[in-house]
This record gives sequence, C-alpha cells and structure tokens, in this order.
Amino acid sequence: MTRTPVNVTVTGAAGQIGYALLFRIASGHLLGADVPVKLRLLEIPQGVKAAEGTAMELDDCAFPLLKGIDIFDDPNKGFEGANIGLLVGARPRGPGMERGDLLAANGGIFKPQGEAIAAHAADDVKILVVGNPANTNALIAQSAAKGVPAERFTAMTRLDHNRALTQLAKKTGSSVTDIKRLTIWGNHSATQYPDIFQAQIAGKNAAEIVNDEAWLADDFIPTVAKRGAAIIDARGASSAASAANAAIDHVYTWVNGTAEGDWTSMGVPSDGSYGVPEGLISSFPVTCKDGKYEIVQGLEINDFSRTRIDASVRELSEERDAVRELGLI
Ligand code: NAD
Ligand code: LMR
Repeated sequence: MTRTPVNVTVTGAAGQIGYALLFRIASGHLLGADVPVKLRLLEIPQGVKAAEGTAMELDDCAFPLLKGIDIFDDPNKGFEGANIGLLVGARPRGPGMERGDLLAANGGIFKPQGEAIAAHAADDVKILVVGNPANTNALIAQSAAKGVPAERFTAMTRLDHNRALTQLAKKTGSSVTDIKRLTIWGNHSATQYPDIFQAQIAGKNAAEIVNDEAWLADDFIPTVAKRGAAIIDARGASSAASAANAAIDHVYTWVNGTAEGDWTSMGVPSDGSYGVPEGLISSFPVTCKDGKYEIVQGLEINDFSRTRIDASVRELSEERDAVRELGLI
C-alpha cells in the first residue's frame, strides 16, 4: 500500500540548523525509513533564495522518501496541511539587545506562526520549537494557536538530554546506551537542571555510581547547562548539527515511542506536575507511545533537585510574565 506523505514544515530552512536538518528528514530519520515526506520550507523573503539552493541539493540526492519540496515566505501558506512543524527560525540576540528585546522580536515571529498553525495546519499537527528562547517561543505560538490542543506544542531540550548522556557516560566509563531515565528539567537555558538521581546505568542508580556531589554541582550540571555557550565560543557559531540531530530525535521519539523502562526529556505544557505552574512550557521526563507523550509521575525529588528545578521554573515564569506584559500571550 502506498502511504500518504507526511507534510513537514520547517521554518528557518535556510539557516545552519535547517541545512543540517532537511537532509535527514528527507532520508527518513525524522519519522521512519518507510514514511514518505513532503517538505514545506518557510523563510523570510531574504532567506528564500538560499532555501531554493538547499532544495536543489535535496533534489540532487534523489531521496526515495522525498515526495515534494515547496518554499514559502508566508506562514499561512507554509503551515498549510502541516502534520509536523519544526519551528527553527528565530531572531538571534544581537549586540546590546536586552532579554525583553529578544522576547519582543521573537513574539513578532511566533505569534503569527501560531495563528497560521491554528488556521491552516492538519488536525493532527505536532509542533517542536527549536528557535530560542525555545520554551517561551513555544508558549507564544501555543497561546496564539486557538483551538489547537496545547499539548501539541513542545520545546526542544533533547539536545541538553543528549549532552547529559555523553557527559555521564564519560564520567562513569559506560556507554550512552547503558543510561536510562535521565531528565532535563525546566528551561532550555543556563538554569536548566540535568538530573541523574533517577537515572540508571546498566540497571543501577547513576547517582550512587557517581557518588560525587561536588562533580555533579561543579562540573556535570554547568558543563551541560552552558554547553551551548561553550560551542558558540569554540565554533564562532551556535550548535547546528547536534541541534538538528536532537530535533530529529525529539520528533522520532514523540511519534514512534520511548523504549520500555526508559523516558526522554521534552519541553511540554505543564499540567501542574512537580509544582511547575500549569501552562508553562517546561522540560519534564516523558514517556511516548502511539504519538502521544505523558509526564512521568511519582518521582521522588530530593532537596538538591528541588532547589534547581525551582530556579529554572522561576526563570520560565519570569519569561512568561515578560511576554504577557508585551501582549504576546
Ligand atoms: P541561523 O541564523 O543560521 O538561521 C535562522 C534562519 O531563520 C535564517 O535563515 C533566517 O532567515 C530564518 N528566519 C528568521 N525569521 C524567520 C521567520 N519569521 N520565518 C521563517 N524563517 C525565519 O540560526 P540557526 O543556527 O539555524 O539557529 C536557529 C535557532 O535555533 C536560534 O534561535 C538558535 O538559538 C536556536 N537553537 C536552539 C537549540 C535548542 O537546543 N533548543 C540549539 C541550537 C540552536
Ligand atoms: C544551544 O544549546 O546550543 C543553543 O541553544 C545555544 C544558543 O544560544 O543558540
């Protein structure tokens, strides 16, 4: 039986993450090796020509699963029929820009995109926001998408999750595949909290194996939380291939499920779990099954974790208050 292609809209398609992302979507890594896709690339007018160049290269790969590429500079057209939306394009922080300026500039992008998603996307649309500040941009888009269930809007903390897996594997001499149940809590920012207290390495508690709170507090947590800045410092540009890889992982897991006994980290609208105010888009441990995710319930949160989760959630509340004051939500 021939499957109907899945419409995947990618914003910021001509940017550096877009360039690392599109070829992997087209080759079947986003949804599965048997799922045909149609790409809908959304750019600002100045980005359209470069997106056309990328589309030419995509054509030149002759990907069997790629059933079409269209390029738009109008979100109403870009999101038409979208089953998956990857919101990558965002306004980067420029010299002298305050956090409020950045939130306002991004509100100008994510509010109309949320409205366009509500008006034109497919009923089953799933959204991943990558563009920073990802959690609050997701909140802006979600608030504007009247009639779309809030849980369809997610923000990316999978890159932080993957970063934490590798740091923990290196510390313990294990393989990333031995590690389960790691969690990123809170905001995709320097306040995020990578939590190993629930994690297991080959079935044993990770925090007990590490048994070194100073390493956790002074090395592991800051290394993971400040990795984005370290990469900008080293590369002179922000992470691109690893961010694209994490976006692929996020959507693949959301659609195809988490492994038995494991979970992943996603920024999702809070239902009040773990004291995170309802509606904030915060990172939680989630399991995925049949295209839906659920926040893992009943985890014991120790004082070390509580303080750190609360600090990151406080920052998210402040960002929400700032965009509320700007009339963006
Ligand atoms: P980039 O500057 O290379 O590309 C961004 C692209 O978005 C540009 O081509 C630009 O023309 C386009 N764009 C801007 N406004 C748009 C709009 N309204 N509609 C459609 N396209 C638009 O940036 P990049 O390196 O690809 O990064 C993109 C975003 O991802 C940044 O905000 C970055 O901070 C963020 N990021 C997030 C994570 C994460 O883990 N959540 C990781 C890395 C980067
Ligand atoms: C990352 O985590 O690599 C990025 O979010 C950093 C950034 O500011 O673009």
